[in-house]
Amino acid sequence: MQDWLEEFKVYVRARYPILWLITWEEERARRILADLARETKKRLYLWTATEGFREERTETPALVAEPLDFGAAAGAADDRSPLAALDAVAHSSERAVFVLHDFHAWLDDPKVVRRVRDLVATVTKSYKTLVFLSPVLKLPAELEKDVTVIDMPLPGLPELTGQLHRFLENLQRDRCFSIDLDPDLIERVARAALGLTEAQANHVFGKAVVIDRKFSEEDLAVINAEKRQEIRKSGILEFFDQDESLAQVGGLELLKRWFLDRQGAFSERARVYGLPEPKGLLLLGVQGCGKSLSAKAIATSWRLPLLRLDVGRIFGSYIGSSEENMRRALKTAESVAPVVLWLDEIEKGFGGVKSGASADAGASTRVFATFLTWLQEKTRPVFFVATANRIVDLPPELLRKGRFDEIFFIDLPGLAERREVFRIHLARRRRDPARYDLEGLAQAADGCSGAEVEQAIVSAMYFA
Ligand SMILES: Nc1ncnc2c1ncn2[C@@H]1O[C@H](COP(=O)(O)OP(=O)(O)O)[C@@H](O)[C@H]1O
Ligand SMILES: [Mg+2]
Repeated sequence: MQDWLEEFKVYVRARYPILWLITWEEERARRILADLARETKKRLYLWTATEGFREERTETPALVAEPLDFGAAAGAADDRSPLAALDAVAHSSERAVFVLHDFHAWLDDPKVVRRVRDLVATVTKSYKTLVFLSPVLKLPAELEKDVTVIDMPLPGLPELTGQLHRFLENLQRDRCFSIDLDPDLIERVARAALGLTEAQANHVFGKAVVIDRKFSEEDLAVINAEKRQEIRKSGILEFFDQDESLAQVGGLELLKRWFLDRQGAFSERARVYGLPEPKGLLLLGVQGCGKSLSAKAIATSWRLPLLRLDVGRIFGSYIGSSEENMRRALKTAESVAPVVLWLDEIEKGFGGVKSGASADAGASTRVFATFLTWLQEKTRPVFFVATANRIVDLPPELLRKGRFDEIFFIDLPGLAERREVFRIHLARRRRDPARYDLEGLAQAADGCSGAEVEQAIVSAMYFA
């Protein structure tokens, strides 16, 4: 998060006339702005349509000795109207940050837009900074060149860790809670809260301790449940409550080794050690041999949430353009990072790109381009797993070096692997594998996929 804050401060110092801060988190934004005002020795004024302007006291008093000329500037006029608010800013001669809440709502009024434009020149020459603070961006073309837009990201790991420490310190005074202060657990809980706002995180920390009156390993599930709520709202992503573990995947030893070697890959320790985060994986091969199963098992074994991206819904949706939907889905996935993002049967979603023949090849090419760019440039720890049955249907750009860490081909299981698959599925169906001739079964199932072995067991059980 520090990057955007540094950038924001540079804009303020460089006297950019209007900064538009996009966020749902007003409290947090105001606190950050108060810090900034203190640092730059400015006053901080907040405006809302219901209350007009009020001064937010930053802790250290402003160093400028001159009296508040601010009320006078507004005169008798009611500064709750947007025009009066802009006038007040124009007339003030203070070093100050003026924060206008929800100002997008007035920007379809030509008079307001004109007044904002007039203001730009005077603000640039002064030590005033005008900040629009709202959750949405609605920028009229006239203002495009004057407004600098900054997306305020959700709280990052350092912020959440700090918040969690403060939360636990408060709890510790209360004797009825038992608190496990294992630093590793704290990191994992803070990490699990990534993607939540500061207020949501506080609620969920509270919920986690209230349920069982302790703070422990199990609370990760509570936090993930909260995140699931958030994801569901996007419509294109699906939060998977997977319980498949690596133990349920028969064979595929190389792949499982690869997963196990990277188990700690998203921890702070791995960063300190100098390792990059793994980017992604393509699982390619014969149907029914465990590609989807492995994708789900990665998330379990790495203890990360699993999100499935439904490309069909991106095109099918009537809200917004397909590219916008894709971008939004990827943004949402990033906001809950670290996460495993799973795209099943990728050739179905992007197969049209290669043929170029289908009716909406244009749309799917653009969505695909958005996706490739993201895959190349993503900076958040989103581990991407794609599965594909037919490589010939895949656009070659996707397979270029650097998009994925590794491409695994998953073939029909060999003899030893089939034995494993029999053992796993017999056990899953409450049969004791030791009572079966696994070797003979595995030999008889030559040429079968894992899914077929599973079905054979189910049929045999009906027969029995
Ligand atoms: N290697 C395997 N080990 C255990 N079960 C398997 C294996 N391969 C396939 N299966 C069974 O077959 C089902 C379908 O496999 P899936 O992963 O969906 O195949 P696909 O490769 O087509 O994605 C799985 O849910 C699992 O029960
Ligand atoms: Mg599959």
